[in-house]
Amino acid sequence: MCGIVGYIGKNEAKDYLLDGLETLEYRGYDSAGIAVLNKEKISTAKTVGRVEHLRKEEAERPVHGSVGIGHTRWATHGGVLERNTHPHHDKSKEFYVVHNGIIENYEEIKEFLSKQGYEFYSDTDTEVVPNLVHFHYQKTGNVLSAFQAAVQTLRGAYALVLLSSHDSENLYAAKLSSPLALGVGKDELFIGSDALPVAGHTQDVVFLEDGEIAVVNTEGYRIVDITTKKSIERATEVIEIDSGDGDLGDFPDFMSKEIHETPATVRSAMLGRLRADEQIVKLGGLELVEDQLQFIDRIIIIACGTSYYAGMVGEYLLEEIAGIPVEVQQASEFRYRQEPLSRSTAVLVVSQSGETADSIAALKKLEGSGILKLGIVNAPGSTLARMTDAGVYCHAGPEKAVASTKAFVAQVTVFVLIALKLAKNYPKFSEVVKALNVIPQQIEEVLKLEKDIAKIAKEYAHHNDFLYIGRRYAYPVAMEGALKIKEISYIHAEGFAGGEMKHGPLALIDESFPTFAIALSNDMDEKSFSNMQEIHARNGKIVTLVDDKNSPSAKLAQDIIVIPKTIEPLQPLLSSVATYLFAYHAAKELGRDIDKPRNLAKSVTVE
Ligand code: AGP
Ligand code: GLU
Repeated sequence: MCGIVGYIGKNEAKDYLLDGLETLEYRGYDSAGIAVLNKEKISTAKTVGRVEHLRKEEAERPVHGSVGIGHTRWATHGGVLERNTHPHHDKSKEFYVVHNGIIENYEEIKEFLSKQGYEFYSDTDTEVVPNLVHFHYQKTGNVLSAFQAAVQTLRGAYALVLLSSHDSENLYAAKLSSPLALGVGKDELFIGSDALPVAGHTQDVVFLEDGEIAVVNTEGYRIVDITTKKSIERATEVIEIDSGDGDLGDFPDFMSKEIHETPATVRSAMLGRLRADEQIVKLGGLELVEDQLQFIDRIIIIACGTSYYAGMVGEYLLEEIAGIPVEVQQASEFRYRQEPLSRSTAVLVVSQSGETADSIAALKKLEGSGILKLGIVNAPGSTLARMTDAGVYCHAGPEKAVASTKAFVAQVTVFVLIALKLAKNYPKFSEVVKALNVIPQQIEEVLKLEKDIAKIAKEYAHHNDFLYIGRRYAYPVAMEGALKIKEISYIHAEGFAGGEMKHGPLALIDESFPTFAIALSNDMDEKSFSNMQEIHARNGKIVTLVDDKNSPSAKLAQDIIVIPKTIEPLQPLLSSVATYLFAYHAAKELGRDIDKPRNLAKSVTVE
């Protein structure tokens, strides 16, 4: 949750600050604000609610200046009120700060400062920071040393940026656990919680590490260790972010746009990596660890939410195609397990945003263990991408809808490529490559079914409950389909392995509790059919997803969706898109906020 931006350069700071905060909306927030310095005076614009409200606020009371800071807040200390909205300032309004995270020792600092005559206007922990800087500045007369002294006193998790009326030439940043990126432009410098805000302004990015301060100005940046005060040399990296055509085009919302991007997503994930004619898979991001991979005899996939379900598909793919034992664990569980791990185990994190707190904490647990850390990440330069030893980017472009769709399709495509890359004498190698090559066109076929799927979805949208079932490769898609419909339509939905019906879920079934059954052709058709018969015999309504309209499963269902046929390992790439369209139109029927469902954030950057 929450986001930070900063700008120093030749242009109006507010333009970058407001645009930058918009690109960070995916991190979730409840209020937003900016502060801009102009001729030793700092002006602010703040609002509870969305960045679009902040834009209106600033338009009514413009703030001018070429150096400034901005923030989207996810309240931890103090309610969602304007007085708690960042940036926060000291009593004399000489120092303004934006802060991501928590200052654990803010109460003792507040008590100390109160005894020194300082007064506070907000309920936040953050407000102690500008006042502490002011306290030290009174003694040193130097902004950097005052900032350093203040930051050294703080305990907790934070990313901070300071703006001072005493220094129009510099911004001061500090990082301890929450991410901070510096984008180096020509005579201007951009700060962001990750590299997304700077995309489109520069590709030269440097990331602060924990325990570092950066002094940034129009010439560039200087990094200093908070404790030793020693300068740290760190070059920028080239981060190529497809800043994406931010507009919707003809689509009503980003989720619809991103579902319709899935054919291109698969092509983009394969681009330059799969040479079908030569049966070669080239994954540059894994070449660094090619030797180590030879000794890996087990992979643990860790992820959350949709990425976890992509990991479940990846488990089947890696086991079947590459012959490697795989286990998938939710990152929020893995991070707290006391699980012995051998050095021949690799941990593979899957994440669209690369900023998910549970996944970051899970990977942090491995630091110093010597365990090979791999990643399948969509956001270039994100925290998880930088924490892994090697990995494969999804190249899906920014995903803006909270409900993840194209990222899942990209992640599964990358898993197929990794499985083929690690395969040793897999007999069906060329069959998989041939089938993968036509998947984008087949997804186009699924998208052409949208009107039919929408009609069915509207019929079922008013049910309060839904069961999703599938077996083997369809099981993770049943789980993902259930997640999608619950997170955007708020219908209670559960996913189960089809074989589990008799072990409890069948008790749920009656005419008011419909089932979405994924029954595509494979060697378990009869099993899937018998699951559906059990449901049918109890008057349960069934929507079934098939690739053969004459299959027994198709005959049993009230409503059928017929998608193109492909080999079982690639079926999730087609069936997932059908479940997305179904969930999308159920939510539309219910008038839900499609791109920003209640209670959810695009990236869960706090635990
Ligand atoms: C999926 O639609 C949700 N938005 C959520 O479950 C998401 O997949 C999860 O939070 C993991 O996010 P990540 O892929 O960015 O790590
Ligand atoms: N703890 C600070 C507050 O509650 C910052 C929260 C955030 O990271 O946005 O204002």
